[in-house]
Amino acid sequence: MAVYLVTGAAGFIGANYVHLLLEWEPDAQVIAVDYLGVAGNRANLDPVRDRITFEQTDIADFGAMSALYRRYRPDHVVNFAAESHNDRAILAPSAFMRSNALGAQVMLECSRLHPVRSHLHVSTIEVYGELPADAQWFTERSPLNAKTPYSAAKAAGDQMVRAYMATYPDMNIRLTHCANNFGPYQLPEKLIPLAVTNVLRGRKIPVYGDGLQSRDWLHVADHCAAVHRVLHAELDPIPAAAATDPGLLPIFDISARHEVSNLDIATLVVTELGLAPEEWIEHVPDRPNHDRRYVIDPVKLETELGWRPTREFAPEMAATVAWYRDHRDWWEAILADKGELGIDWSQLPAGTS
Ligand SMILES: NC(=O)c1ccc[n+]([C@@H]2O[C@H](COP(=O)([O-])OP(=O)(O)OC[C@H]3O[C@@H](n4cnc5c(N)ncnc54)[C@H](O)[C@@H]3O)[C@@H](O)[C@H]2O)c1
Repeated sequence: MAVYLVTGAAGFIGANYVHLLLEWEPDAQVIAVDYLGVAGNRANLDPVRDRITFEQTDIADFGAMSALYRRYRPDHVVNFAAESHNDRAILAPSAFMRSNALGAQVMLECSRLHPVRSHLHVSTIEVYGELPADAQWFTERSPLNAKTPYSAAKAAGDQMVRAYMATYPDMNIRLTHCANNFGPYQLPEKLIPLAVTNVLRGRKIPVYGDGLQSRDWLHVADHCAAVHRVLHAELDPIPAAAATDPGLLPIFDISARHEVSNLDIATLVVTELGLAPEEWIEHVPDRPNHDRRYVIDPVKLETELGWRPTREFAPEMAATVAWYRDHRDWWEAILADKGELGIDWSQLPAGTS
């Protein structure tokens, strides 16, 4: 029976991964770690509550994480834990550096001192920065060019992952970068659940600026399947040439090559709820330093590991909107606990411009 240590397990993607992992491997022993920050929600793990061990622990706390490794001796580690909201990172960047950079290194160090069979660090398309309008997409060879506090902290974590890969090649570390995810259990501070929950409460959807910021969208279950495949892939040793060619490192970009603007996402949500977009969408001041566009190419994952997305965008968007409509108790409990989650940039919080 394999022991999985999954961090960020009470967040959006981590919780979806734990649910799916227990479908794929019903006998797996799952240690679900989360410090229950802003995005952490124990209720996301309710469907599997009796089948996992939950540990409320900060991944940046080396002593606490080492103790978990000693107690549970994980075979496989998947590090989803991160502070993940670009808006919040602008208001309070330090927590992002702690979780996304220091936390990444502490997890790597724990896996070095208490060896595991495989260690996967989950990262994001956003470490590549903004894609020029005339460029097709980023690849694993693209330079890291993060420009927001969230993505810069993630990129710092990535650099540490690459350094551990190169310095300790026997550690069996893997790194993934994924496109924007959608699906159930996402905190209603992010675009899709914010849009649905606003409309269902009779409020308009705030679309930043012209809404033409373009994102690459993938269903969360496809992301989780890719993570699982990369975690278990039999990979060749890292070649010497990887020192100057990051395309040869065990890094895999994950995407369905499905680019949609934020405005189109908002329009789809309203339409799906049977309402008129022009009455339910309002353009509001953009957040500072907002990336216009990013898209990545998953060809390496497709050709080397045979992964393909299985979820069609349109029906899965409809199912996602329906999930939030049908799980009102879930999001009302979050809003009652955390308050309103949207940020009004016209108020220009201190230190931003
Ligand atoms: N959401 C996306 O579209 C997307 C896309 C690509 C990559 N990612 C990456 O996937 C991962 C998960 O993203 P998500 O959307 O589920 O985010 P999320 O914010 O919903 O969940 C992250 C979870 O990590 C926990 N966490 C944060 N810092 C922690 C710490 N120091 N110790 C323990 N737990 C901590 C939070 O409490 C939260 O439950 C992140 O690494 C993110 O960068 C997300």
